[in-house]
Amino acid sequence: MKTIKASGIGKPIDRIEGRLKVTGMAKYATEFPVENKVYAQAVNSTIAKGEIVSIDTSEAEKAAGVLAVLTHKNAEKLKAFEEEMPELGTTTIAPVLQSNKVHYYGEYVGLVVAETFEQATYAAKLVKVKYKEETPDIHLDKSRAKAYKPTESSDFSRGDMDAGMAAADQTLEATYNTPIEHHHPMELHAVIASWNNGKVLAYTSQQMVDNSTIVISDTFQIPKKDVRVVAAFVGGGFGSKLNTDRHVILALMASKKLGKPVQLTVTRNQMFTNTGMRQHNEQNMRIGAKKDGTLTALSHETLSHTSTFQEYQEPCGNVSKMLYKVPNNLIKHRLIPLNFQTPCSMRAPGEATGSFALESAMDEMAWKLKMDPIDFRIKNDTQIDLSEERPFSSRLLIECLRIGAEKFGWKERKMEPRTNTNGNWLIGYGVSAASREAPYKKTSSKVIISLEEGKAIATIQMDATDIGTGSYTIIAQTASEYLGIPTEDVTVELGDSNYPVTPGSGGSWGAASYCNGARAACENAIAELKRKKNIPEGEEIALADLLKQNDLTKFEAEGTAEPSEEFEKYSVFSFGANFSEVWVDKDTGMSRIKRMVNVGSAGKILNPKTAYGQIIGGLTMGVGMALTEQTKIEPNFGNFITRSFADYHAPVNLDMANVEVIFLPEEDKIANKMGVKGIGELGITSVAASIANAIFNATGKRMRDLPITPEKLIMAKLEPGVES
Ligand code: MOS
Repeated sequence: MKTIKASGIGKPIDRIEGRLKVTGMAKYATEFPVENKVYAQAVNSTIAKGEIVSIDTSEAEKAAGVLAVLTHKNAEKLKAFEEEMPELGTTTIAPVLQSNKVHYYGEYVGLVVAETFEQATYAAKLVKVKYKEETPDIHLDKSRAKAYKPTESSDFSRGDMDAGMAAADQTLEATYNTPIEHHHPMELHAVIASWNNGKVLAYTSQQMVDNSTIVISDTFQIPKKDVRVVAAFVGGGFGSKLNTDRHVILALMASKKLGKPVQLTVTRNQMFTNTGMRQHNEQNMRIGAKKDGTLTALSHETLSHTSTFQEYQEPCGNVSKMLYKVPNNLIKHRLIPLNFQTPCSMRAPGEATGSFALESAMDEMAWKLKMDPIDFRIKNDTQIDLSEERPFSSRLLIECLRIGAEKFGWKERKMEPRTNTNGNWLIGYGVSAASREAPYKKTSSKVIISLEEGKAIATIQMDATDIGTGSYTIIAQTASEYLGIPTEDVTVELGDSNYPVTPGSGGSWGAASYCNGARAACENAIAELKRKKNIPEGEEIALADLLKQNDLTKFEAEGTAEPSEEFEKYSVFSFGANFSEVWVDKDTGMSRIKRMVNVGSAGKILNPKTAYGQIIGGLTMGVGMALTEQTKIEPNFGNFITRSFADYHAPVNLDMANVEVIFLPEEDKIANKMGVKGIGELGITSVAASIANAIFNATGKRMRDLPITPEKLIMAKLEPGVES
C-alpha cells in the first residue's frame, strides 16, 4: 500500500492502510479468495463438567450439504500435553476432540463441515450429545481449599512485611475484586485452513505469526517449514489472539480429512467460551505508612482461577513490586482450578487489574493520612526498580503526575468527599499512576529497494502483525527515515510467515521491535551499497544515486535488531498518570465520566496520531473495566449468562469523556537505538483506579468490586469519617 503524505518518524501521518480498510480492500482472515472452500461450525458442550456418554451424528450427517462431522470418536490423534496442568503460552499445543471428557461449559465437542455456512450452522444443531454430568467447580469462594502456588516466581518478597506493618503509623487492609472479562475484538476469531499434500496454509486472525506456525506444527507433529500462516490484517486481538486456539486446529483437522480448504469462524457467542478471557481476581492489599507518607510495607496477594487442565496466571502483583519505594514487600499469586476455559492475557495482563488494586489502595491510604494522593505518590517515588535491584532506564512518573495535575486543574479538587456538587450530581476528581514494562525483542526484516523512473522506492517485509495499532504506518515511517525517501515511496508487507521473523504483536513490544528491525535492514542496505563503492559511512548520498552508482536497479538486504547487553542492566518501563472527573447522581447511582487527562512517558513517539489512538482505546477499555464490563456466571451450571453485546456492556462514545492525551517528549536510548517504548497497554493501566478514586472523592463510597454499577453504588456505605 502507498502513503498519502511524505514524512519520517514522529509525524502524525494518517494510517497508510486506511484507504484499504475503508474501501473494504484490506483482507482479513476469511476474506482471502480461496477456491473450493467449505464451511465448518463447531459444536459446544452444554455441561461444565463430566463425560460424553454418547454422541449421535447420524441426523447431522444426513442434512443437506454436510460433508463430515468430527467428534472425539473419529478425530485423529494429536500431540497430547506431556505434563499435568501445563502453562498456557503462545506456542503451546492446542489439542482438541481428543477424549470424551468435558472440562467447561462450551468446550468444543464436535465440528460439522458442509458446503455452505448456513448448512454447517443448521447441521451443527442436529448433533445429539448425551452426557454423564458432574457438579462443576465454578465458585472461587467455595473452592479456596484447592488454591495452589503455580510457580516459584509466583511469590516475591523483600524485607520483612510484618516488621514494616508494625513500624507504620497508619495501616490499611482491603480486598479488591475484578470480574471475568472478555476481549471481543471487532474481527471474530476465524480461519481458512488448507491442508495440501502435507503442507499447511492458514489464513488466520493471530497476533503472532511465527508462534502460530509453531503451535500448528507441534500439535500435528509436522515440520515447521511446511506450515505457512498469513495474518495480513487483524481486526483487534487484545491478547485473545496471542494464542493459536483450538478452532484453528479443528479447521485443519477437517481440511486434512476432506482435502478441501475449510473456513471456520468462531461466533461472537462462542468467543465467550472458546477464545480465552480475563479471569476473576481477588486481590488483597496491605499497606503501612508513616505519618509523613513514607511507605513502610506493601503486600499484594492475588487469588484467581485457571482451567482444570492448563495453567494461566495473570501477574497482578508485579506492579506492586516495582512502582514505589517500599522496603518491605510481599507478593503472592494463587490459583484454583475451576471448570472454566483457560484464561489468557488480556490487555496489560497484570497491570490493568493489579494497578486497580494498588492504585485504589494508595488512594485509600492517602485519605487516611489526609495527604494529597499525588504528593503521597511522589513521596514514594523510586528511580531504582527494587524488585530487580537495577535502575529504570528512564522514569518520568513524577513529571507525568505534575504535568497532568496542571492540565487537569487538580488544585480545584476538594479533599473532602461530597463537598463538590452541582444540583443532584456529586463531583469527584481521581488520579492514578501507571507503569507497564516496555520490552523489545529480536526482530528481523527485509528491505527491497528498487529504482523506478529514476526514483528510489522500497518495500519492507516482516511477519509482524498490525492488530489495528498502526504497525504498517510506523514501519513505513521508519523506513522513510532510515532510507531518506518519502513515506509514500515505502510499501509495507506484513503478516506472512514467509517473511522474516518478528515477535508479533503483544506485550507492548510491537512498535519498538518492529521499527528497530526495519531500521536494521535499512541501515544494512545503505551500508552495503556504500561499501561496494568505497563511499565513507558518514557521507550523505541520496538512495537513488547510491543505486545508480552501483549500477543497480534493485537491491535487497535483511537486518535483525535485538536488545543490547546494556538493556539487560536496566528495568525498561513506560509510565503514565491518569486523571478523571466523574459525576455521580446522588439518587440513582448513575455515573458519568466528564473528562480525563492521560499523560504518558513512553519514549519517542513514532506517530502521535496512532499513539493517541492506542491511548484512547486503552482508556475506553479502562472505563469498561471500571463501570460496565463483566461476564456473569450461572451459579449452578457454570455457563456464562452474559454472552452477547446485549448483556456484556462495553462503553460507547456517549459513555466516554472528553479525553486529553499528552505524551512527554522523551527518547530512551537504553531501551533501544530508536528510543521507542511500548504504548499499547499503558493506556488501560490504572484507569479503573482513577475512576474508582474519583467516585470516592465524589461520593465518599469506596468501590472495591468492579464494575461499579449504579446498584452497587447505591447500596454501598460511606467510608468511616466521611460526612454525609
Ligand atoms: Mo497483549 S494482552 O500482550 O495482546
